[in-house]
Amino acid sequence: MSTIPMALPQKRYYRQRAHSNPIADHCFDYPRTPDDMDWCAYYPELVNKDQGSNPVVEFADIGCGYGGLLTTLSPLFPKTLMLGMEIRVKVSDYVMDRIAALRSQNPGQYQNIACLRSNAMKYLPNYFKKGQVSCLKAALLHFFS
Ligand SMILES: C[S@@+](CC[C@H](N)C(=O)[O-])C[C@H]1O[C@@H](n2cnc3c(N)ncnc32)[C@H](O)[C@@H]1O
Repeated sequence: MSTIPMALPQKRYYRQRAHSNPIADHCFDYPRTPDDMDWCAYYPELVNKDQGSNPVVEFADIGCGYGGLLTTLSPLFPKTLMLGMEIRVKVSDYVMDRIAALRSQNPGQYQNIACLRSNAMKYLPNYFKKGQVSCLKAALLHFFS
């Protein structure tokens, strides 16, 4: 039995005001250390818990917005795991739904990209080890200066 591919999400249903206060006490789940992070749920076809060595996230788009960069880079670096981090709930939901739809419409593709909702300003070191990320695109340069 063939399954019907998921439709792409429509941005108009995911609009949210442009600013989210990074100092506010949002309630985020986050790993205690990068070793505690379980990436299988994000990259199910590429990361396998039972496998000895797994690829790690190498490209990070911090403040990824609607995820345009991730979806553009995905087919260009199919073996590289990329992660978008976004603080706004509806915007991160859009990126997650978009990736799910792209995967369902293009079997075997877009497996190397994922998005999670988090406050990069607070939790970035909980996700990545020193030297792990080879390409970091940060829309939040003022936080890192
Ligand atoms: C100027 S927009 C850039 C969006 C996208 N990278 C682009 O180039 O189109 C900045 C994005 O960073 C997100 N953002 C701001 N503070 C953040 C934080 N502390 N952690 C994660 N994302 C954050 C905002 O919600 C917004 O989507």
